[in-house]
Amino acid sequence: MRKSLQKIVLAIAVTGTLHIAYAADPKPEEEIRYRQSAFNVIGRNFNALGAIAKGERPYDQAFAVKTAALLELLAPLPFGSFGPGTDKGALNKADPKIWTEQAKYKEAAEKFQVEIAKLSAAAKDLNSLKAQVGEIGKTCKGCHDDFRLKEARQ
Ligand code: HEC
Repeated sequence: MRKSLQKIVLAIAVTGTLHIAYAADPKPEEEIRYRQSAFNVIGRNFNALGAIAKGERPYDQAFAVKTAALLELLAPLPFGSFGPGTDKGALNKADPKIWTEQAKYKEAAEKFQVEIAKLSAAAKDLNSLKAQVGEIGKTCKGCHDDFRLKEARQ
């Protein structure tokens, strides 16, 4: 720690400025990649529970509970990456309405969080898991119908 502090002091002495080597704000393209990655990880894990709900994969309580806990951690992640100016910068399917109807978008995101928060408890039993996967699925679809474009745009 002392050594790195000495280096910073030296850098200021040499250049006259303190240059911080990381960007203060991620670029729009980085935000787009981040939220898409988060959605993809959410999608993969949610689909695993969806397969159990449809009877395509055997119910395993430990796996279901663990996946539910993971989804609870993942669920908020995409929604920190829809800031101003992140509608463009890389191919994406975010509908411009996200930025013009912010209250409605926020409400859709909150509805999703509320249903996800019930998943861990529901995952302990196959029937309640099925029901809760259905409730969550409605919030995914609802938001996609209103706020996700069919075709990606730049
Ligand atoms: C409140 C809105 C909202 C909710 C709720 C939501 N999504 Fe999305 N989702 C989006 C938007 C907007 C995009 C497009 C993001 C982009 O392209 O930048 C997206 C994209 C995706 C993608 C594709 C990622 C990509 O690379 O384009 C997947 C997969 C996905 N969502 C799955 C889900 C699943 C599964 C759920 C529910 C468990 C869910 N989403 C809930 C808004 C939502």
